[in-house]
Amino acid sequence: MPFRKDFLWGAATAASQVEGGYLEGGKGLSTADVMLAGKSSTYLADKGTSRQVTETVEEGKYYPSHRASDFFHHMEEDIGLMKEQGLKCYRFSIAWSRIFPNGDDEDVNEEGLAFYDRIIDMLRAADIEPMITLSHFDTPLGLQKYGSWLNRKTVFFFKRYARTVFERYKGRVKYWLTFNEINAMSFQPWMAGGVSSSSEQDRMIAAYHQFLASALAVKEAHEIDSSMKVGMMYSGHFAYPASPDPKDVQGVYDFMHRMLMYTDVPCRGFYPSYARKMLEREGIVLPVCEGDAEILRNGTADYFAFSYYLTHVMGKKTKWPCKGLNGIQTGYDNPYLEKSDWGWPVNPQGLRHLLTFFYERYNLPMMIVENGIGARDAVDENGKIHDPYRIDYLRKHIEEMKKAVELDGVDVMGYTIWSFEDLPSASTGQISKRYGTVYVDYDDEGDGTGRRLKKDSFEWYRKVIASDGEEL
Ligand code: BG6
Repeated sequence: MPFRKDFLWGAATAASQVEGGYLEGGKGLSTADVMLAGKSSTYLADKGTSRQVTETVEEGKYYPSHRASDFFHHMEEDIGLMKEQGLKCYRFSIAWSRIFPNGDDEDVNEEGLAFYDRIIDMLRAADIEPMITLSHFDTPLGLQKYGSWLNRKTVFFFKRYARTVFERYKGRVKYWLTFNEINAMSFQPWMAGGVSSSSEQDRMIAAYHQFLASALAVKEAHEIDSSMKVGMMYSGHFAYPASPDPKDVQGVYDFMHRMLMYTDVPCRGFYPSYARKMLEREGIVLPVCEGDAEILRNGTADYFAFSYYLTHVMGKKTKWPCKGLNGIQTGYDNPYLEKSDWGWPVNPQGLRHLLTFFYERYNLPMMIVENGIGARDAVDENGKIHDPYRIDYLRKHIEEMKKAVELDGVDVMGYTIWSFEDLPSASTGQISKRYGTVYVDYDDEGDGTGRRLKKDSFEWYRKVIASDGEEL
């Protein structure tokens, strides 16, 4: 068997995209709750089609997170389906605003804690290992009054939130992730942490605070329960050069350095020389306080997790900051790759490239915590959803992951597909950009029955898990 005995085959979601119940159970508003749906159907999102943020919830407008996939009211059914699929791991996130509705509250919201108690207990009863992301694109909106992650206070609000959930769920949850796609601060700052500024200085300050918060959370977790494993999570950016021209190769280095800062700090515990030089060159001064270096050093990640959807092509003409896919761009077109319905280049081999690159860089266990294809699915007259394209996408990626394990010796802990069930897309807000192996009957205006239907890929993935990746 190429995979570890305890390999975590699973599926992933995020609170603001799956839960709904946005004001139920004492939950406060989050940054996701004021994001309208966008209309962009390609990665070239522009102002007219990308998601807009309103100051507060406006009457009569459609906010995808408010009902999302309505997991809040379908919890038993959904976890029942996870059990039927034989998931070994379910990665989900806690909505910080369910635990501390405004982020800075004196008191913890017991109802919120109890909500996740139920999820965790149901998962455990179904023999599914929970993996929890502390912050997945939803920061309490109440923290806007401080400037959110631009303010050092948020680091300590986060630390308290992390400590609260670690203490509550210790012994029941072993695997944790701090920030979903921590590098998103450089290209989707609102989603990554409620930062709307377009200044590079601000983004770097917010990122600095998230690094501190992440390191503090790792330390807290280890103090509370030494068997807890806390990973960092990177949006799998990886660039190829537009040509063998050394100038294009330099373009790749420049781009990758911008991204690698987000993995080097949480994995190595300090800002490497290229990052320090980059900040210096751009006149960016970080708000460093005494003791910070020690915080970063003492809170390095236990494992390296990443999402993987596509690869980039960079070169001498690539400008920063880029625009396009999810607010970043894939750079030049890659003529060797096919594209998804939303124009995302599909590159299974790239997954192997990332796995080997980051494993060799950090020598940490690797976990692919998101991988999947957003596609338009159709329900036929018999209520069936035939999605061979999704099966094909996942199969090819799993094959490449296998090669990384068998041929390159990468230590892969697990693989959770994005997503378990259909949910509104983070970048566009459209649920028609379907990722799940379970269909959820809602449309892009939020209308529908919410009925769950198993797609062909549901049964296919069940077999993959049951055969430990042999039957693809
Ligand atoms: C990752 C996020 O960026 O990609 C998820 O962690 C997101 O939240 C996923 O849903 C797919 O991207 P999108 O924009 O198509 O939903």
